[in-house]
Amino acid sequence: MTDIARIPKAELHVHVEGTFEPELIFAIAARNGIALSYPSVEALRAAYNFTDLQSFLNVYYAGMNVLRTQNDYYDLAIAYLKRAASHGVVHAELFFDPQAHTDRGIAFETVIDGLTRALHDARADLGMTAHLIMCFLRDQSAQSAMATLEAALPYRDRIVAVGLDSAELGNPPSKFQTVFDRARAEGFLTVAHAGEEGPPAYVWEALDLLKVSRVDHGVRSMEDPALVERLRRQRIPLTVCPLSNVKLHVVPDLARHPLKRMLDAGLVATINSDDPAYFGGYIDANFTQTIAALNLTQDEIVTLARNSFEASFIDDALKQRYLAQIDDALAVR
Ligand code: ADE
Ligand code: ZN
Repeated sequence: MTDIARIPKAELHVHVEGTFEPELIFAIAARNGIALSYPSVEALRAAYNFTDLQSFLNVYYAGMNVLRTQNDYYDLAIAYLKRAASHGVVHAELFFDPQAHTDRGIAFETVIDGLTRALHDARADLGMTAHLIMCFLRDQSAQSAMATLEAALPYRDRIVAVGLDSAELGNPPSKFQTVFDRARAEGFLTVAHAGEEGPPAYVWEALDLLKVSRVDHGVRSMEDPALVERLRRQRIPLTVCPLSNVKLHVVPDLARHPLKRMLDAGLVATINSDDPAYFGGYIDANFTQTIAALNLTQDEIVTLARNSFEASFIDDALKQRYLAQIDDALAVR
């Protein structure tokens, strides 16, 4: 069995607020003088039983309510980055949800300054590279997304792309076409959650209307052969999150997860952790449990690692360096 931590990889689908472990929620709540409605870390963790995406989002937004200061955002991000580095993640692209903070009166600057300081320290101390992707909450209005985009413009050089997350059903990509047009005109790359709970039509819209460089989740694309062919032909990556899909009942269990079929169809699929503090595992657990459930071969594991760099938003020279690190890791086994 391959030691997954020894294979260099990129993580491209992780919500920094979804890495907020109960221990850290309690520690930050205490230092900010905030009372939690759960008596203990164990009681909070025991509440992580989700029936669908919305049931998770309710708990997720409640947890991040304790984040108030720049140091809080720093502590959240650095804890994830350290843990990811220990799993062989050499490059990470972190989603953050500014509206979930600015709506509570936290300044955009507080959030982004804390996060960027953590990214800077990860590079200096862990040798990791990382980018930020700003997501719009799709269950809020397009006007709110546009105001968020405008608030982000002074920090343009610290954000590589914009994305779309939160409650998918009833909030199709088309709702945000104007916002994404403006984001691309301002120089941002674009991604979107699509085909998690929503239908293949939402993935088509993400491609055709939002011009996304990759699709987050996208597992329901497998229901539409013409869409699979489009994704394959254009090598549009999909950031797949197996343990998330099980926890949120997108798939019944890992053995029936479509990841292997996606690889068989020639799709550029990657493995990611989504909201690891809530879904029972970081990228290492997502790899090891998926490999076991789907009997993935050594070649498929290497393909997944290579796909993660191909799909990333780093420049070609760095991509080649990371891909060479995979070859080096395999050579010394
Ligand atoms: N926000 C955090 N995790 C998410 C997910 N899996 N889908 C949509 N929005 C999210
Ligand atoms: Zn996600």
